[in-house]
Amino acid sequence: MLSGQAAAATVREWMSAAASIAVLTGAGISAESGIPTFRGPGGLWRTYRAEDLATPQAFARDPHLTWEWYDWRRAVIATAEPNAGHLALAELERRFHGLTLITQNVDGLHDRAGSRRVLKVHGDLWILRCTACASEWRDLRPSLPHLPPTCDCGGMARPGVVWFGEGLPEETWNSAVTAVRGTELLLVIGTSAVVYPVGGLVQLAQSAGAKVVEINVAETPVSAMVDLAWRASATIALPQLIQSA
Ligand code: APR
Repeated sequence: MLSGQAAAATVREWMSAAASIAVLTGAGISAESGIPTFRGPGGLWRTYRAEDLATPQAFARDPHLTWEWYDWRRAVIATAEPNAGHLALAELERRFHGLTLITQNVDGLHDRAGSRRVLKVHGDLWILRCTACASEWRDLRPSLPHLPPTCDCGGMARPGVVWFGEGLPEETWNSAVTAVRGTELLLVIGTSAVVYPVGGLVQLAQSAGAKVVEINVAETPVSAMVDLAWRASATIALPQLIQSA
């Protein structure tokens, strides 16, 4: 594990030599925007049981309760702003056309920071999907007037996110796998890397010969595997990657 300056210099060097870069983010990159993570101190799964809220069974059992929880998350996220980590990744994308951003986050902060090509492998909190006709629409209102919301067809809407036990959006996931398979450098930022299949992208990158850098404030199950474990917060580390050497 390297100190900040040395780590930044090494990663900048690896980035300048790479023909392609993939970035994988998790809840940790939004933590400094005030959005709770899932498993760290104060994490959502420390307060709520995922199986009571973020599963198809929970939604079928009590759609109103599930929607109350997601409506609360929308309200919290609506007050959050992209932080220096999100903004640095958007700048990196502008400078480096071979960069693919893959996120597990559903908060939309990468888009609001200016990232254009965001592969949202766990869906998008601001998208609603009809459970009857499957149509999807974006609704950016922080709190919805009626819960559960309904579709124009009269069907009940659900959040456009991936719940435990559900498949990932196929096209988006395939694009993420293709990008990781072909990348020369993978930056893994703010994820505990314990949820699959996304957690397997680190091994996939390494088996394809890529260098892997982890930026995290704590150790994770992949820390021992990566080429560089940079123990730093996203808002400290990422801006150093867009500074000139
Ligand atoms: N900078 C960098 N990393 C941070 C920061 C920070 N400021 N704050 C926290 N972290 C790290 C934590 O150390 C932890 O490793 O971010 C990670 C957050 O882990 P989780 O809360 O498990 O979030 P994530 O990895 O995104 O969870 C994956 O699980 O519940 C599902 O669908 C949900 O997409 C989510 C998936």
